[in-house]
Amino acid sequence: MAVISPNTRVQPHSAQINSDDHLVVGGCDTVELASRFGTPLYLLDELTIRKAAEAVKQGLAQYPESRILYAGKAFLCLAMCHLIDDLGLGLDVVSAGELYTARAANFPPELIYMHGNNKSRQEIEAGLQTGAVNIVVDNASELALVGQIANELGKKARILFRVTPGVVPDTHHYIATGHTDSKFGLPLAELQAAVALALEQKESIQLVGLHTHIGSQSHEIEPYLEMVEILADCFQEVKLNFGLDLPELNIGGGLGIAYLETDRPMAIYDWAQKVSSQVSKSFRSRQLPPPFLVVEPGRSIVGTAGVTLYRAGHSKLLPGGLRYLAVDGGMADNPRPITYQAKYTACIANRMSSSSAEQPLTLAGKYCESGDIIIKDTYLAADTGDLIAIFDTGAYNYSMASNYNRTGRPACVLLSEGRADAIIERETNADLLRQDRVPDRLLRRAQR
Ligand SMILES: Cc1ncc(COP(=O)(O)O)c(C=O)c1O
Repeated sequence: MAVISPNTRVQPHSAQINSDDHLVVGGCDTVELASRFGTPLYLLDELTIRKAAEAVKQGLAQYPESRILYAGKAFLCLAMCHLIDDLGLGLDVVSAGELYTARAANFPPELIYMHGNNKSRQEIEAGLQTGAVNIVVDNASELALVGQIANELGKKARILFRVTPGVVPDTHHYIATGHTDSKFGLPLAELQAAVALALEQKESIQLVGLHTHIGSQSHEIEPYLEMVEILADCFQEVKLNFGLDLPELNIGGGLGIAYLETDRPMAIYDWAQKVSSQVSKSFRSRQLPPPFLVVEPGRSIVGTAGVTLYRAGHSKLLPGGLRYLAVDGGMADNPRPITYQAKYTACIANRMSSSSAEQPLTLAGKYCESGDIIIKDTYLAADTGDLIAIFDTGAYNYSMASNYNRTGRPACVLLSEGRADAIIERETNADLLRQDRVPDRLLRRAQR
């Protein structure tokens, strides 16, 4: 049977239309979800996440030994940690907050990989104290800090070096990371010296492998194949220089998803299958043993599982013919359009079979920036009061959300077989005041 790869479909795997002509996700009527939880509302379809993880597992099935990490930066909360653990995946964390979330969910430390191009002393200490976490070291000065902290704590840090292979994937330049002048990772020319430094610190550092991540929302396989060849060269050089077979290769994530019906990202199953067979080939041709292979997709696991529900508010028709329909959210809950000019697909969740409009409509956010546009020129016959669903908001929406204009972040509801569980509560106005402090001198003035 063909393996389902949810990253190629705009809608979540479980999406349906019911007899009331409403969008149904995870067996739940989205119109009912909107009245129960309010809008804006993030929905997450558990089945899509499970299918995506299964597709990667199937794609790696022929490879001798591998591990799938979920890149938590795409979307993380306690429930997501539990779900990822239940799926048997490891976790890529990139901050003290993500690590703290994983620890609070009792995530197995040995399956946690710590990333970041500027890990602080506190972050490294927290990582080493968590247990056998893996630290992906970004640069030589970070190596020195990790060695020093591991010494102080009497621990041995299990590390991989992140290298910059000089490969540029087909994506927006803000989310490409593998190019030679990237802020991430060690330039290839500095790798062997860094390996030498790591090997000198045998008491505190255990160097187990190399890592790279070339970028995000890439649709093509070629940059990955090229990157694997370059990494295999690095392993070979380490072997020649130090007589060492590094056991682990982590090739990052970055596979894209279909945001538009016309998008054709590679299926996540094919990605895992092709990349792993390239690893076998590249290592075999250099007479190197196949490394323990680690992949760390984020967007392609959770992106298409997400749907955001908005209520349509005021509409206006400008003299030039441009029509705006504003919704009750926007750039604070989804900063991707204003950051990367990201494109999205929408539907009218309360009347799915409504025919498309003859004139285009611009779906505008409610925040105080002209750039806060969710979709420019969509042919949606939507109007005030409609429930608008935006697909593919599972990755880098909640995790990049802000409180701009002093707005609480929406709730997030996990949907599965007719059950809807809030896994993140909506932030209230009181939550917005929680960290506020007023100096006495100003309070006194207000009391006068
Ligand atoms: C080191 C690393 N690994 C994995 C990922 C996940 O990428 P994606 O969500 O595109 O799969 C990222 C994203 O930026 C990353 O920086």
